[in-house]
Amino acid sequence: MGATQTLRAGMVGMGMIFDETYRPMFEWVHRHGLYDRAFGDVDVPLVAVATRTGRRAEAYRRRAGDRIARFQSFHGEDGVRRMIDCGVDFACVATPDDRHFGPARELLAAGVHVLIEKPSVLRLQELDELLRLARRNGVLAKVVYHKLLDPDHKKLRTLVADGVLQHVNNGYCSLLEPKQISGSQFAEWIRGRNPATYVAVHYIKLIDFTFGGRLTTIKATGQRGLVGPADGTTWDSTQVQLVYRYDDGREAAFDIHTSWVTPDNFPGYVEQEVQFRFDNGVWNGHSRKRGVELTVEGLTPLKLKTTLNNHYNAEFLEPWGERRQRGYGVEVLERFVREVAYVEFGREGTREERLERIRGLTYNDLSADRQTVAAVQGIEAILQTHAAGHPDAVVRLEESGELVLHVPGAAEETVLYRPAQPDAAD
Ligand SMILES: NC(=O)c1ccc[n+]([C@@H]2O[C@H](COP(=O)([O-])OP(=O)(O)OC[C@H]3O[C@@H](n4cnc5c(N)ncnc54)[C@H](O)[C@@H]3O)[C@@H](O)[C@H]2O)c1
Repeated sequence: MGATQTLRAGMVGMGMIFDETYRPMFEWVHRHGLYDRAFGDVDVPLVAVATRTGRRAEAYRRRAGDRIARFQSFHGEDGVRRMIDCGVDFACVATPDDRHFGPARELLAAGVHVLIEKPSVLRLQELDELLRLARRNGVLAKVVYHKLLDPDHKKLRTLVADGVLQHVNNGYCSLLEPKQISGSQFAEWIRGRNPATYVAVHYIKLIDFTFGGRLTTIKATGQRGLVGPADGTTWDSTQVQLVYRYDDGREAAFDIHTSWVTPDNFPGYVEQEVQFRFDNGVWNGHSRKRGVELTVEGLTPLKLKTTLNNHYNAEFLEPWGERRQRGYGVEVLERFVREVAYVEFGREGTREERLERIRGLTYNDLSADRQTVAAVQGIEAILQTHAAGHPDAVVRLEESGELVLHVPGAAEETVLYRPAQPDAAD
């Protein structure tokens, strides 16, 4: 029996991350709907998708059978427009990281709630524009940082919030991806890109969300020569440093190292490590020490992973006989759909009040993504300047909100972003 309330969903981009997380989420809600006392019973059909060529959408439709609703598939220049014309209440954007802004702007301008893959956008100017449209049209603009829902990171944040771990001083994070990511998976869009924007951003957000404080300084460097030419604009690996300042005047610095050229057969597959040092403690996290190491002749490490992350997203045979793909990577998406359902169908307060309440959730609201986007914009500018023959630049985020690039030897600094004056019309 179907529910009387419906949220019609759209999807832009159906690549690797769609298959790992959005697909299981949409298939689950297709079958079970969503229920909460706060908003009742809701059907969530995927009604339309927009992709670059339409091929992956077709392949998925054939594979999925009755596990998903009959969705329409659009591609080409006006794909997102035609998807919107199908009448969608919310849509998810999972296109390559430098192609989030266009579809998100189009959706928000049409009054559609939006969820964007990390990093939300690459420039603060774009963030301002999306926030303006979301406010004007009374819809949610949210971003997915699923690592915030990793149980280990939740525990870290709980210990910080409860004052058990006191005052972070410094730390490092490292995330190493295999060569197949840069070499085949992302070959279509990797030119001119870097692994910091793509994955270091997970840790930028984790640091920003967990420890708070004001981001002041961004430094970045990296290596080239494997994915592209040694003097080109495509980066193999990157090392980023962020400095934060806290209300008590003390500072902390964080180093984040990322790569997408690690050998395909290295044991971690995607290896993640963090260490945060506090006044009174140290937090060490390592994906390979989380517990499981699997060897199967002929299958690990390439077809099956040696060190499985069963928390992020994995297919399980549940004890009650059902098969389900679940984990925090899927949970974070379902949570967004619940937030949309609460805004649209909630039984308490007015829609406006519910909208404001959900906008106040800083873990995923675009309004709380400012420092993360500033870091990404800074990193991109530093790497671009480096590739143009001027390494070692530094970006500072001023208290005024200005983002300023300082290049050694340059006569003048470059303002990358200056906060706009509030527009009376909005
Ligand atoms: N949260 C994570 O851990 C995680 C992991 C992987 C990727 N991602 C993010 O997801 C996004 C997509 O990554 P992916 O791994 O799925 O990439 P992918 O290359 O596998 O897939 C990209 C998809 O976008 C579509 N596309 C490209 N340009 C488009 C356009 N202009 N309009 C409509 N569709 C377009 C392609 O057709 C394809 O379906 C990126 O932002 C990436 O940072 C997140």
